[in-house]
Amino acid sequence: MSETPWTTPELIGHRVLVPGGTGAVGGGVVRAFLAAGAEVIVPTRSEERSIEFRTLLGAVADERLHLIVHDYTSFAGAQDLVEQIVHFRGGLDSVVAPIGGWWQGRTLAEVTEEDWHAAFTELATTHMAVLRAALPRLSDKGAYTIVVGDSATWPVPGSGLVSMEQAALLMMQRVAAAEAAESRRVFSLVLGPVSTRHAEGTVDAGDVGRVAVAISAGATPSSSIGLHGPDEVKTALDQLAIEVVA
Ligand SMILES: NC(=O)c1ccc[n+]([C@@H]2O[C@H](COP(=O)([O-])OP(=O)(O)OC[C@H]3O[C@@H](n4cnc5c(N)ncnc54)[C@H](OP(=O)(O)O)[C@@H]3O)[C@@H](O)[C@H]2O)c1
Repeated sequence: MSETPWTTPELIGHRVLVPGGTGAVGGGVVRAFLAAGAEVIVPTRSEERSIEFRTLLGAVADERLHLIVHDYTSFAGAQDLVEQIVHFRGGLDSVVAPIGGWWQGRTLAEVTEEDWHAAFTELATTHMAVLRAALPRLSDKGAYTIVVGDSATWPVPGSGLVSMEQAALLMMQRVAAAEAAESRRVFSLVLGPVSTRHAEGTVDAGDVGRVAVAISAGATPSSSIGLHGPDEVKTALDQLAIEVVA
């Protein structure tokens, strides 16, 4: 894994919610926000994942990492999560949502109702639940960023449910950005294969996190940003007005 060198913007006191933060891409996002000085709130659906994730982060998991065991996959659950954050932390500045993972194995004609719920309905509902609960509560300091993959724009035979769900999320970002106009900034990061603790890819999970930090720290308007390798990471950081160290 090689990360793009850059100057970390300061986000001291910035309250960011990272649903999906315990995942492969989420780990890079969480590390980048902690490195920038933010207060990082990571909900997880299981105590076991919470313990595993804290162990994985080691010394990086200081008092600014707030791991909460909470089921945020329903409208009510996500609403309760956001209300608790606003109550206990005094507000919420940003959300970065790398929720959900990969699914494969059946053509569209073969998918079962169980597949449909697991790979489409449950993930789309979770993203929708978090967005509708959090977007109206965001301060004007940060941004809402959804993380998806190239499968949102490219059909992958045997993984069609992923493409359909990710395409829906891309449109969710566009609609939310249009509805928010200038009052909120809403982004999507569209990733190629990611280098994570589980696999080698073309873009590093840490770099995905750095771009997410740059979005939150900056003031650029809503957009969709493709990240497929170091060149696109550098371009994104340049456009987001974050200085990259040569
Ligand atoms: N990994 C890649 O190479 C890659 C490439 C391109 C795009 N992406 C995109 O990046 C995002 C994250 O992918 P990832 O590989 O990091 O996924 P992952 O490792 O499977 O992590 C997914 C996270 O989402 C959370 N989650 C909440 N509700 C869920 C649900 N109903 N089903 C499954 N997980 C749920 C899980 O949290 P808890 O279990 O702790 O609750 C978990 O930490 C996805 O949108 C994916 O398409 C990933």
